[in-house]
Parts: sequence; structure tokens; C-alpha cells
Amino acid sequence: MPNFKSKKEGATIDKKAFPKNFVWGVSTAAYQIEGAYNADDKGTSIWDQFVLKKGAIYGGQTAQVACDFYHRYQEDILLMKSMNIENFRFSLAWTRIIPEGQGTVSQAGIDFYNRIINFCLEQGIVPWVTLYHWDLPQVLEDKGGWSNREVLQWFENYVEVCTKAFGDRVKNWMVLNEPMVFTGAGYFLGVHAPGKKGLQNFLPAVHYATLSQALGGRIIRKNVPNANIGTTFSCSQITPNSDKKKDLRAAEKADALLNRLFVEPTLGLGYPMESVPVLEKIRKYIQPGDMENCLFDFDFIGIQNYTREVVRHSYTVPYLRAKIVKATKRKVQTTLMDWEVYPPSIYEMITKFSNYEKVKKVIVTENGAAFEDRLDHGEVNDPQRTQYLQNYIGQVHKAAEENKKVAGYFVWTFTDNFEWAEGYFPRFGLVHIDFKTQKRTIKASGKWYRSFLKESEVLV
Ligand code: NOJ
Repeated sequence: MPNFKSKKEGATIDKKAFPKNFVWGVSTAAYQIEGAYNADDKGTSIWDQFVLKKGAIYGGQTAQVACDFYHRYQEDILLMKSMNIENFRFSLAWTRIIPEGQGTVSQAGIDFYNRIINFCLEQGIVPWVTLYHWDLPQVLEDKGGWSNREVLQWFENYVEVCTKAFGDRVKNWMVLNEPMVFTGAGYFLGVHAPGKKGLQNFLPAVHYATLSQALGGRIIRKNVPNANIGTTFSCSQITPNSDKKKDLRAAEKADALLNRLFVEPTLGLGYPMESVPVLEKIRKYIQPGDMENCLFDFDFIGIQNYTREVVRHSYTVPYLRAKIVKATKRKVQTTLMDWEVYPPSIYEMITKFSNYEKVKKVIVTENGAAFEDRLDHGEVNDPQRTQYLQNYIGQVHKAAEENKKVAGYFVWTFTDNFEWAEGYFPRFGLVHIDFKTQKRTIKASGKWYRSFLKESEVLV
């Protein structure tokens, strides 16, 4: 059995050490790669609008063009194939499919995703589709968006349309992408679209997203024979800053909010109100029968892990009295996102989610890193990213060996793309993009992943 010692020790890392049916792939999201923001019938999404707000995005950048995946999908899928990538996770843009959020379905939108799905299948690449990766139609936001209970009908209709259109060929579905991030950053902190703030926006959004998560699952089950149904959660190991009681309590709150809030109602455990008392206020939005409707028997839970958080008590943070100690203040290795590089976190999170009795399978639907990449004589030498991926995959392997429920791993992300409020500055791709020319160049890390996926033992 090969081991996963660090590079310094000259060890090898081998895909063969994982179970045969372990799924390997890459992940993307519509808004971050597609561009073509107003092509054909496409409606405006909350991100199309939010990027125009002064000061919202690093350098005033937008994703109007992004990676131009809308026009270059064939080139990208062929590149994927050349890198031995067999599973491609992407999301559908609601505004391409139903430009006004509700009502008329755009044939052009359906055709676009049919082209992608069919081309993937022709190339032997399995599509993994996320229904919602943050780009709500703006017209629905104008009616309150995720904070309006009507979102349940809007979402139901959207999922019906998508599953009926693509369910004959797409079997792997994810309902939501990181609900904690799109509700927390979008409806509480206001740093992501739609830029809303406060508990009065956040708490209803949390509850309606939780209901939508299960509702979406039920619709997929109904419309797609043999579907493999999941939903994805951001998660990070939480380390208390000290053993002091107050820090331990702060860490418990952060863990409940960042790691438990959206999964537990699905499993019948309710919202973690004992750990975070302010969540009691969510009762205001809960109607009779809702908690039963939050239940869904997912085939897998997607976890997305990048880092860990160190948390301490703080009197100055309202509601929570808990604060993240920034990695940049802790003298640890960080990525361009200022996130600590901490591989054991992914093992801890696989373990945490595996420990829920009702969770059947865990798939790492995102993991990756942004580092300063330089294109030099046609090459991008990014040893830090390769090292990061190897070390995190090593931790995934440790979990698999210990029979945790982990069944797959997707790198975030295939090509450099639009990193939300941070714009194009942090590059997460295995493939470099020159955004002036749209030229793609496989980075050294991409070449490493290519060889890793080839099943041969690769010398590190
Ligand atoms: C989480 C999100 O799903 C994705 O959209 C984002 O780009 C990556 N993580 C990196 O921050």
C-alpha cells in the first residue's frame, strides 16, 4: 500500500490506493466561467447586477466574459479529457433556462446545457449538475429572493424544468451549493449578491433554503430514474483559540453555524438552536409541517473544504460573541485567499459528516487553492498547488482507509475563473487562463493531476 508522506520524504501518491469506484473530477459554477451574460434570451441574475455596484468586486471586475465557457465549452471539455478527467461538475444558470425566473422556458438556454451534457457524454465524461450555485434571477430578488417564502414555488418550478429536460442523461445532481455561504455572505453580511444584511433577511433565507434543499431532492427523485442525489456544504474544522471555557463555547457556536446548520434539519435533527441561541428567532418563519418537509434522504452529501478556522470569544460580535482569528495573524502558511493551508481539516470534516448515522456517502465536491501563478515561457510552475492537492488528497485517503463514508473528490477548479467578490485575482485553476486572449495553459499542478488520474503510480 503506497503511503502519503510529504514530498520532502520522497513518497508516492497513487490513485490505486483508493477504492476502484472512487469518483475523481473537477468542479465549476456557471456564473464563474460562462460569460455571455446577455447572450440569447438570458435574464439578469443577482450576480450580473451585484458586480455593477461600486466597490462590490475587487478592481470593479465583472463576469460578463469570464472564461467565455459559453462559446469555448468544446475546447474546455476536450482539454479535460486530455487530462484524464472523467467527472465534470458544473451548475445551471437559472436565468438562461427561465430568464424571468418563472414562466417562459428558453429553448436557447436548454439547448446550451444539452450541448454541454451531450458533448461530455460523447467524450466519456460524466456530468455532475448543481441546480443552484448562487445566481438567482434578479426579478425574483426584487420580490425578496431567498427571504421570500414564495421562493419555494419558484425553485420547485425551476427544478421541475431542469430535471425533465436533462434527467434522461444527467444522473448525478446536487441541489444547492453552499447554502451557508450564499445566505451568510449574501443575506447577512452583504458582501455577496444580493448584498443584503441583517437577521431579518438571513433567517428566512436559511429556512427557505433548507426547505428548498429537500424539495429539490424530492423532485429529482420523482423525475429522474436512477438518480444519485446530493447537495453541497461548505465546512471547516473549528479549533478553539485556547482551552478557556469562553473560547470553547465560541468554537461550539462557530461549528454549529458553519458546519451543522444546513445538514442537521435534513437529517431530522432540527436547527442547532441549543448551540446558537439566536437561531431561536428562526421559529418565526417555521410553519406547521415545515420540519418534516426539511427531511430528505440524500444519496450523498457534498462537502467543500479548503481550510480550518481558529475561533475565540469576543464581546464585540453581536449575537454570536465569537470571532475568527485570522490566519494571517497566526504565522501559518496561507493561500491568496488568506486561508490557512491545513490538510487535516478535510479528514476531520469527512469524519464529522460520516459520523451522522443517516449520511450515506460523503463526496468532496470542492477542494483546491489559489496561489500566485505566473505564466513564464508558456508554463505555469505552481508547486504549492500540487503540494496542497497531494497533502489534502493524502488526508482523504486516510479517511477512506479508515472506512469513513468518503466516495469521491473534485478539485476546485478546472480553469482560473471569476472568484466572486475577489474578482479574477485569486487563481484556483489547474489550467491557467490569460483573460486577455482566453488562451488556456495547463499548469504543472494540472499535469500532476493528469498523471495521478492515469492510474499509474506517479513519483512526486
Ligand atoms: C466555494 C464556492 O462554491 C466556489 O464558488 C468558490 O469559487 C470556491 N469555494 C473558492 O472560494
